[in-house]
Amino acid sequence: MNIRSLGYAGFTAKDLESWRTFANGLLGAQVCDAEAPGVGKALRLRLDAKCQRMLITQSSEELGTYLGFEVEGRDALADAQRRLAAAGITVQHGSPEEAVFRGVDAFFRLTDPMGQAIELFCGLADDEQAFVPSRAMGGFCAGDLGFGHAVLMTTDFDKSKNFYCDILLFRVSDFITRPNRRLFMHINPRHHSIALSESPVRGIAHLLVEVNEFDDLGRAYDVALRDYPDAITSSLGRHSNDFMTSFYVRTPSGFALEYGWGGRLVGPHWQPHELFGPSLWGHDRRAGNPESRLVAGQQRQFAFDQGIRAPSPGGPMRPDVPDAH
Ligand SMILES: [Fe+2]
Repeated sequence: MNIRSLGYAGFTAKDLESWRTFANGLLGAQVCDAEAPGVGKALRLRLDAKCQRMLITQSSEELGTYLGFEVEGRDALADAQRRLAAAGITVQHGSPEEAVFRGVDAFFRLTDPMGQAIELFCGLADDEQAFVPSRAMGGFCAGDLGFGHAVLMTTDFDKSKNFYCDILLFRVSDFITRPNRRLFMHINPRHHSIALSESPVRGIAHLLVEVNEFDDLGRAYDVALRDYPDAITSSLGRHSNDFMTSFYVRTPSGFALEYGWGGRLVGPHWQPHELFGPSLWGHDRRAGNPESRLVAGQQRQFAFDQGIRAPSPGGPMRPDVPDAH
């Protein structure tokens, strides 16, 4: 298995126009109209030179969310299929029309142990046009790192961990044990492309997109406070592991989107380790359950009392070292 990045995510929305407004106004993505085969109207959101990083299909039904992982080419895709078959996992090949919709050479789909739809693909095309964000901004941190990350809720933490670590060969970055188990995994220098959160329910906890410039995070937060105040699920804060400064907002599809800046990269000498908690400051989980909110507050207080901070405040950090605190 030679997965290179989390290349795209696809999901449905009852109201595409709400997504168009959200993506144009808050995200700063480039929004393009598309046609999903057999389904109908869709939007493709661009974050970089690629033709899409998010595909939103209009549907009154919940058709499910899918995550697309990139491999090198058709040989790598065939190799991945053989390795999955050896692990007892069958795949379903996407049709040529579905591949065209995604802008990829080829792909197949499978499900993880929680039933989450996953696609392995090769050859995500660049768009014919240069990327133009919807507002004046410095663009997104995507490219070879993939579009961002996805955090998945799992009711069987060990089974999910085995799938992503032992079969898809993600590597552990770090983990949290209170108030629930959380595991952060990388597949390229991005600190985590996938994370797992032990939960009574399954599904996507959130997706992340990362901007290149700090001011664009602040401006998006201004838009969220002005236009989507009731949809902010977590206030501005900074994570303790990837040092991402971010906030969380509920999308028109219902799941949360983390909008961040300044994520660190990891290198080949990275050592997995346990974290005291998820955030150095902020990230008040307005929508979280009382217990998780209480524990998160205690963990922030611990960081406050200990004076724990990111190693170099004021700019994006790219240290190729194990944990700095
Ligand atoms: Fe995140």
